[in-house]
Amino acid sequence: MAVRIAIPNETSGERRVAVTPQVVRRLLGSGHHVVVESGTGDAVGFTDGEYAEAGAEVTSDLYQGADLVLVVGPPMPDRAARIPEGAALVGFLDPFAATELIGTLVARRVTAFAMEAVPRTTLAQAMDAQSSQASAAGYQAVLLAATMSPRIFPMLITAAGTIPPVKLLVLGAGVAGLQAIATARRLGAVVSAYDIRPQVREQIESLGARFIAAPVDESAASASGYAKELADETQRRQQAALTESVAAADVIITTAQVPGGPAPMLISREMVEKMRPGSVIVDVAAATGGNCELTRAGGDIVHRGVRVMGPTDLAGSVAIDASEMYARNLDAFVGHISDGDGNLSFDFDDVIVSDACITHNGRVMHPVTRRALNLEAPE
Ligand SMILES: NC(=O)c1ccc[n+]([C@@H]2O[C@H](COP(=O)([O-])OP(=O)(O)OC[C@H]3O[C@@H](n4cnc5c(N)ncnc54)[C@H](O)[C@@H]3O)[C@@H](O)[C@H]2O)c1
Repeated sequence: MAVRIAIPNETSGERRVAVTPQVVRRLLGSGHHVVVESGTGDAVGFTDGEYAEAGAEVTSDLYQGADLVLVVGPPMPDRAARIPEGAALVGFLDPFAATELIGTLVARRVTAFAMEAVPRTTLAQAMDAQSSQASAAGYQAVLLAATMSPRIFPMLITAAGTIPPVKLLVLGAGVAGLQAIATARRLGAVVSAYDIRPQVREQIESLGARFIAAPVDESAASASGYAKELADETQRRQQAALTESVAAADVIITTAQVPGGPAPMLISREMVEKMRPGSVIVDVAAATGGNCELTRAGGDIVHRGVRVMGPTDLAGSVAIDASEMYARNLDAFVGHISDGDGNLSFDFDDVIVSDACITHNGRVMHPVTRRALNLEAPE
């Protein structure tokens, strides 16, 4: 028996696809059957013909008999309602916000796994879609800034004089921030970077950027090594210490996030007002509230000559490669929940399965989602 894997069209302007033709071949090689909804790859440039050539069945009657549905973003509830009862769903499901979707998945006894809940461990590295998409976003953020900045990034020595390199500041040096540093360095910018976790200094310096130390005396990382939310007073001291670096920067890329919480506010309106007109801020954390007080998610504003951009679709702007990486992450996850004999198998003693599972058998399993939805403590 083969697992019947369905790939529906994405909704709400998503350009990425959950499975590329290349990954269709991998899934078939693992003994699965892949069904792709007609038009799935249109936005990114994969044709129905390419999917068919890779061995997928291309159809408009997608859900019939599906065991597993793979998506990029959360399906609209009316589409989720068509997932066969008892089937599985895997993708970025935004479980804390998608109340209606979770209700539908519970009602249909769907086993749903959220890629944003896959643990960030070495064991789960091949399935770490947060990292692969953050990498694409960090790269694209710098290209967007370079396009929107009225300045040339590298130093130019010309007969008309010397143009100094752009001064670029990165706030938050996780996966996206480190990729932003590397990309900005390749473009010839002079880069400095700040992160609350002192252990990233070495990574920042090895990429040729200057590390700005955090003025934070409390332990900034939680036991798991992730950043945690700071007390208001600490956050204010952090802003004060960053004011000078922010004012000196021509371009700022902000990527600071706290898992499960709102993004930390690092750049106040007053700090923006101290920047030179013509400077650009690209706030990669816009979707979780942003690191700059003036950021509007999905927006692009100019305040006293400083452009503040809050793109929420950076990975989607490089949709082919972002899809390729995401599809490989999904392939690895599918391998993890398959028994090799063509069946799905969920081992809830396995930390990857238990952490990532949002709903199963008519229940919300994920403790943080239960709290977000005001459900009682996990059974
Ligand atoms: N396989 C693995 O083991 C693996 C893979 C990926 C990431 N990780 C780890 O996961 C952690 C998070 O990575 P991420 O890229 O998803 O991070 P993230 O997107 O959650 O946050 C981005 C960065 O913002 C920083 N930050 C948070 N609050 C801040 C503040 N107030 N000021 C300045 N910076 C602040 C964080 O320290 C982090 O480096 C890191 O420790 C990373 O090394 C591990």
